[in-house]
Formats: sequence, C-alpha cells, structure tokens
Amino acid sequence: MKEDVEDKITVSAPGKIILSGEHAVVYGKPAILAAINRRLFVSVRQSSKNEIITSESPKLAEFARDFVLKTFGKPREKLRIEISSEISIGCGMGSSAALAVATTAGLFKYLNKPFDKEKINEIAYEIEKKQHGNPSGGDNTISTYGGFLWFRKETEFLKLFKQLQFDLTKFVLINTGRPKETTGEMVLGVRKLYDKNRLKTEKILNEIEKTTKQLLVAFNQMDEKLIRITIRENERLLEKLEVISNFAKKIIRGIEKLGGAAKICGAGGKKKGSGIILAFHPQKDVLFELAKKKNLPAFEVKLGEEGVRIEKS
Ligand code: MEV
Repeated sequence: MKEDVEDKITVSAPGKIILSGEHAVVYGKPAILAAINRRLFVSVRQSSKNEIITSESPKLAEFARDFVLKTFGKPREKLRIEISSEISIGCGMGSSAALAVATTAGLFKYLNKPFDKEKINEIAYEIEKKQHGNPSGGDNTISTYGGFLWFRKETEFLKLFKQLQFDLTKFVLINTGRPKETTGEMVLGVRKLYDKNRLKTEKILNEIEKTTKQLLVAFNQMDEKLIRITIRENERLLEKLEVISNFAKKIIRGIEKLGGAAKICGAGGKKKGSGIILAFHPQKDVLFELAKKKNLPAFEVKLGEEGVRIEKS
C-alpha cells in the first residue's frame, strides 16, 4: 500500500469571475469568463480508510470522489484527500467549480488516466449539477481551461467555447459579503421569474446578450468609456433579474457616482451580501478608498490565469 507522503499527488484549479453574462448563460446566452490567480489544491494518496481533510464543502468533495471512482470502476478504493483553497467560498468566485475540477483531475492522475481536460471538464460538470441543479457549465469550463473564455451552452450536450486574449488590469474585486442564498437558489429564483413572466424575462436576457457582445468589443479595443458604460448596463439588467441586494446596489451606485462601474460576477444574492463585485475605475485607488470607507475587503486579482494543472505527481 502506498502510504508514503512522497506518493501524494497534488493538482490545483483556479477560481473564476464572470465578466459578463451570468444567469443569462443558463438560458443559452454567451458569457465572458476569466480564471483568476486564486487556486484550490487537492492532494490524493492511498490510505487504509476514506478520509477527506477540508474546510471546504466535504459533502461535495465526497460526492466528487465517489462519482469519479465509480466512473472508472474503482468504487472501493480507499483514499486520503486533502483540500486547501485560496478562493473564498460561496462569493461568486467559482469555489465549488474549482473543487469539482481539481478533485476530478487529482483522481484522474491518481488512477493513471490521461490528463484529458475535455473528460475532466465533463465529469466536473456532472458534479456541479449535483451542487447547483442546473448550471451552465461555464464555471467548471473556465476552471479547467483557464485564460479568458467566450462560453455558450447550446444544449445540455453541446457547450461551445473559445479562448480569448485580453490585457485587463483596471479591475478591483470588492466583497459585499457571502450571500445567504446558494448559487442553485439564485438560479432557481431567475427561473421562477422566467416562468412567471417569460416575455419580459426573455427581453432582459436578450439585452444581457447584447451587453456581453458589446463588452467583447470594448475589451478588444480597450475602450475604457465603452467598458464603463457596458458594465453599468449589465448591472442594471442583473438588477432587473432581482439577483442583487439593496446593500450591494448602494455600493455599486457609490462607485458609479465616483466615475466607475461595477457589477456582481457570479450568482449574486438578494438578502444582504451579493458576493464579489467586479469594479472598474481608471484610477483603482478610488475603489480601494471607497471599500475602506464601507469597511469591505477589496483586492486585485490577475485575470486570465492557467487552468487545472498538476502541482506534484
Ligand atoms: C454562477 O457562477 C454563474 C451563474 O450564471 C450560474 C451558471 O452559470 O451555472 C449564475
């Protein structure tokens, strides 16, 4: 039996932010996603009993482990899995997708399967479904492939994406607090709105698609004015989908008053915290000062980072 720590396999997967298109992406609209330089690490080694050492979501890790082992016909394998993370949980930074991707990839490596990103992504998507019910698959795809992605779910079995290249440095992330709701609950909330008033909601989703395309052009030309306008438009549309709390809206209006723009970058939250907001301003200091005044954590992240990778094998 391999009990030596030296035999430990470690892989990591990045968190993400959605630059445009969250929620609409569940309805087949495109999204622009970026991998960030905050990662989740999973180590796997053989053991005499099954153990998961984590401060993350042990249930999800357990499900991921059992799902992958079953897929490869090894349900009785005994493993010690250790998980550590730099990604805040449940704030819109893709912590659960990174967990699904890294656990899957770690087990692929442990079982000596080829490190095939397409297969890892497919399995991570199935694990994400367990967590969120009806995810788009965008979060696990960006965590797998990294960089910047244009992503669109055409149908359950066809998800198209293309790598993009941008040089984006004028963003600051501000944490408005962990939402009380889960991503699954937020996605369900939009579904209820859609079922109640289909025409009106479809119109909002179509408008979000327009802002996503407009943002792509704005990034491509590095047109700061258009970036600011588009993020503001995107935020207003997300507010119409009722995924942002009054608390977060107030912060965002404050940023706009100072000449910037901001939006949520995940599922959002209605009660108090809406998770991380992506804030843009030609002078980043303005954003840090505002966050300090409001007593909210603010930080910079690098965008377009590497996807899932082997750290040690
Ligand atoms: C969550 O990070 C993004 C949502 O669009 C849900 C999804 O894409 O599965 C809200």
